[in-house]
Amino acid sequence: MHPLLLLALFPLAEAKGWLSPVSYDNIDYYEIDIKPVDIEIYPGKKARHVGYNGTVPGPTFKMKQGREAVVRFINHADRANSVHLHGSYSRAPFDGWAEDTTEPGQYKDYYYPNAQAARTLWYHDHAVGHTAENAYYGQAGFYILEDDQKNSLGLPSGNYDIPLALAAKRYNADGSLWDPEANGETTSVFGDVIQVNGQPWPYLAVEPRKYLFRFLDTSVSRSFQLYAEADKKVGTRIPFSVIGSDAGLLASPVSTTQLDISMAERWEVVFDFSSYAGQNITLKNTGNVAADDDFDGTDRVMRFMVGNSVSDNTNNGPLPATLRSVPLPPAKTTVDRSYEFMRSNGEWQVNNVVWSDVQDRVIAKPERGAVERWELVNSAGGWSHPIHIHLIDFQVVSRTGGTRGVLPYEQTALKDVVWLNKNEKVQVLARYGPWDGLYMFHCHNLIHEDHDMMAALNVTALKDLGYDEKTTFIDP
Ligand code: C2O
Ligand code: CU
Repeated sequence: MHPLLLLALFPLAEAKGWLSPVSYDNIDYYEIDIKPVDIEIYPGKKARHVGYNGTVPGPTFKMKQGREAVVRFINHADRANSVHLHGSYSRAPFDGWAEDTTEPGQYKDYYYPNAQAARTLWYHDHAVGHTAENAYYGQAGFYILEDDQKNSLGLPSGNYDIPLALAAKRYNADGSLWDPEANGETTSVFGDVIQVNGQPWPYLAVEPRKYLFRFLDTSVSRSFQLYAEADKKVGTRIPFSVIGSDAGLLASPVSTTQLDISMAERWEVVFDFSSYAGQNITLKNTGNVAADDDFDGTDRVMRFMVGNSVSDNTNNGPLPATLRSVPLPPAKTTVDRSYEFMRSNGEWQVNNVVWSDVQDRVIAKPERGAVERWELVNSAGGWSHPIHIHLIDFQVVSRTGGTRGVLPYEQTALKDVVWLNKNEKVQVLARYGPWDGLYMFHCHNLIHEDHDMMAALNVTALKDLGYDEKTTFIDP
């Protein structure tokens, strides 16, 4: 048995919005220091991490739609970084472009428009060739955008709205993090220690009422299929409601007993503990089905310890039947482009292209405003490839070839990353824009991304503008 596999020894750490800005009339200014920090994962042993403001995960931003922000990221680490706000339609190229790196001792200011509807975003490193390493050592955090429409729905809020960042990591016998780069890892880091908000297999004391949990999988390589069981009734999965995806609210709540979540995906879920007063509920992972390996210990994630009384009944009513009118793209049946995510000649590739091949890596040029249907193909049985397309929100319109179709809670979801599991073929529909420019799209298994399963799309009518599409950043 894994030495840390004593479920629920330690409490969940908060990942809350304690960052306070310097506020000007129309804009908020923040500073984040990227710096090393020693964290005890194994009691009495220190593990060196490198985190935003020295915390892992980083501090949570809580932002309001319509309030712009500038964030200065200061690099006090010993390697270069590039910060990406995953889920934001920030303008290219100043949003984590892989080669737009900040060296140790430098800082960079990032502008975030915060104009989108309420959604759960996250910020993480994207430095060329070192994204896995940087994110794994701690450069990942929540960025929560709120708006009036969502706040009017009476969903669980305040102390009952809890971001949960999942991570799977691997440690050496001396308690330090197992280093994927130093060990020459080129396929995956699954990790046998499951952490939530940094804490391995934590517990969370909850009240017998509704909670909103924002799940995010920050793992380098591990996907999850989550379900919950009361310890008194093992074998009976507890239903919960999915209300939001990567890009904000669904059209209406979708009840499920299993949540599939791959790397970089966000799902907002409402759990109702009202009939479990005094009980323990364990959140579990189906393990082998979801991951590409079978490490011991990965079947359990965290535990909810349900108390006996409710201290605050605000926003604890029935969920609204309608959450919002989701701006889904107009239907289109023809496939515009098809991309195969593959391994060839010892490299991870997108249609035979790798990121380091600068002359060929721009493999899609959708016109701004165009609606396109893309097919994403994983013809191999060995690996999952969660595919992230920067800038846009897409709808998952079909999934074939594997064991799943489009999931019930994906039907009205807008997403920016989709789990392409073994043998699956997924079609996604999106309107390209709102900006022109070069954006990345890639596998979010960060080891695959670094080695070199990443390509670029260029949203524009380039030829008309006379740009050299292969080398020039477009900043209209
Ligand atoms: Cu979450 Cu290209 O990144
Ligand atoms: Cu991959």
